[in-house]
Amino acid sequence: MEVDLQPSADKDRAGLTYRTIGGVLDLYMFTGPTMDAVVQQYTSLIGKPFLPPFWALGFHLCKYGYNSSLKLKKVIARNRAANMPYDVQWTDIDYMKEHLDWTYNKFSFVGLPDIVRDLHSHDQKYVIIVDPGISNTQTPGSYPPYDDGLKQDVFVKTYNGSNLVGKVWPGDTVFPDFFHPKAADWWYRHANTFHNTLPFDGLWTDMNEPSNFVDGSVSGCTSSKLDNPPFVPPNLDGSVLSSRTVCPSAKQFVSSHYNVHSLYGFSEARATMQTLQKILGKRSIVISRSTYPGSGQYGGHWLGDNRSGWKDIYYSIPGILKFQLFGIPFVGADVCGFGGVTTRELCIRWMQLGAFYPFMRNHDALHQKDQDPGSFDKEAQDMMRSALELRYGLLPFLYTLLYRSHVDGLPAARPLVFQYTDDSAIQSIDKQFLWGTSLLISPCLEQAATSVVSFIPNDMWYDYYNGSLLPNTDLYVTLDAPLNRINVHVRGGSIVPRMTPAVTTKQMRRNKFGLLIVTGHDGKASGELYWDDGEVLDPVETQRFTLISFTLEDRTLNNKIEESYYKPPEGIVLGNLTVMGVTPKPSNVKVNGKDVNFTFNDKTEMLTVGDLAVDMLKPFIVIW
Ligand code: GLC
Repeated sequence: MEVDLQPSADKDRAGLTYRTIGGVLDLYMFTGPTMDAVVQQYTSLIGKPFLPPFWALGFHLCKYGYNSSLKLKKVIARNRAANMPYDVQWTDIDYMKEHLDWTYNKFSFVGLPDIVRDLHSHDQKYVIIVDPGISNTQTPGSYPPYDDGLKQDVFVKTYNGSNLVGKVWPGDTVFPDFFHPKAADWWYRHANTFHNTLPFDGLWTDMNEPSNFVDGSVSGCTSSKLDNPPFVPPNLDGSVLSSRTVCPSAKQFVSSHYNVHSLYGFSEARATMQTLQKILGKRSIVISRSTYPGSGQYGGHWLGDNRSGWKDIYYSIPGILKFQLFGIPFVGADVCGFGGVTTRELCIRWMQLGAFYPFMRNHDALHQKDQDPGSFDKEAQDMMRSALELRYGLLPFLYTLLYRSHVDGLPAARPLVFQYTDDSAIQSIDKQFLWGTSLLISPCLEQAATSVVSFIPNDMWYDYYNGSLLPNTDLYVTLDAPLNRINVHVRGGSIVPRMTPAVTTKQMRRNKFGLLIVTGHDGKASGELYWDDGEVLDPVETQRFTLISFTLEDRTLNNKIEESYYKPPEGIVLGNLTVMGVTPKPSNVKVNGKDVNFTFNDKTEMLTVGDLAVDMLKPFIVIW
């Protein structure tokens, strides 16, 4: 099926053309009326997004081609030595023995299990890639995933019932049929056995379109209509439907591959999330290249192979925003770019933008120059570290947004038009975006630029760093964009929960919370904090979380404990407050009736209070 979006002379209308050669077309209309409501209605139909474990919100580091445990250790060590907030290390297909799933190369990656134990003892996590292609050319008895899969008969079949053979990284491969009733269990068994050797914490499911290095199979496809329909979309290589995938005539348990092709990654994500939950007994992540409506229930997504270019950093923004609409909010692009050689400047800018991807992973292609933060000079490292600290400090807010995605289907990152629907100038903005309704992120996406021209919507916007109020323009304005920081503004009326950053989320969780309170036109503001132990399964469904809301009115801040099932031993403690837009200057600040020390910046009208230890699980009141 080919779908074309046509512009129309009338700017408020557009046309959709469906060119389809058969099947049943079900059309669902989501009537909103708001954009949020459209996404909520859509995700109610397809399934609401999963809630990632808290660690997955940290910084992920990956490269295709570490090629050895020596190199991997060096990368881990230099990023730790540079004090980078850094939660998750990944390895790509080069950790495997001859690219075979559920194996690792005991020669080049000698001691890999010890490296993983070392990551764990530093409160870090480990994620590995798995591809669906299972090698069918190993000596019988030497590769259980294939031998057992054969016995369970879980592989995709050709039209005549034999296992379909394609070619992927390990050479000739068969493809698991994740719709087969025995496939999830087979996948779990081999993952679990391997986990006993290499205790991974999450899985990266790549090549699951499914991708094939030959068209259809090593022996081609049939001359049937399924393989040779009367029309194929013209963008396919060689104009065959089997282009770089398996034959449409192939048989899967539920139907022909023709009918379920686009669901391959979805079915794999479902089986993989089940596998992880069974092995770990905790929440985890599946990051899948192929997705379908509903995939967000089982994991997140990265935008695939980009390049280290200024065009690519820009395109990542519309990519990330689209996936918010698709019900897959946990999404990111390869930070610093995958293919091609990154530059110091591009990588710094990209670490800053990536700090605002819901899923942040720096990933690099084979043979490309290193681009992990620790590989750069000290000054670049300092800039990357502050981007990471900015992100980590805001993770309680991001977690709360992802909780809202999980329960209400609301997107985490949002196009500006979600918030400012009536403003037609805003519809096409794809170089800036919002976090929830509170933060406006205006990255610098041009080489050698020292300023960025950004749209400032009609609202009160305060500089995130110094609390100064931008003139209310509803126009494009030129903002300074020094290389050492990204422009972020906070909307008047917001209360954003924060935390003092640390080098891992686990360590950070021992720190106190902070609240960033930004006064709106009417002197009011509101916000909330979702909190749980970070990894328990189904925290919402099984009531193992805490939800606290905050309101500001008449220079008085109150909390309300909406739910308090989760009460960690260290408490949920408020350590500091930053209040923007305070006028006139307060003569005193009282927390639960007692005077506390504060500082006030007369120029920016910003009030800060530190050294607090307020139990947020009890009602509290702050007055200034
Ligand atoms: C694919 C993936 C890429 C990965 C590579 C090797 O190109 O998209 O992220 O590094 O395969 O596994």
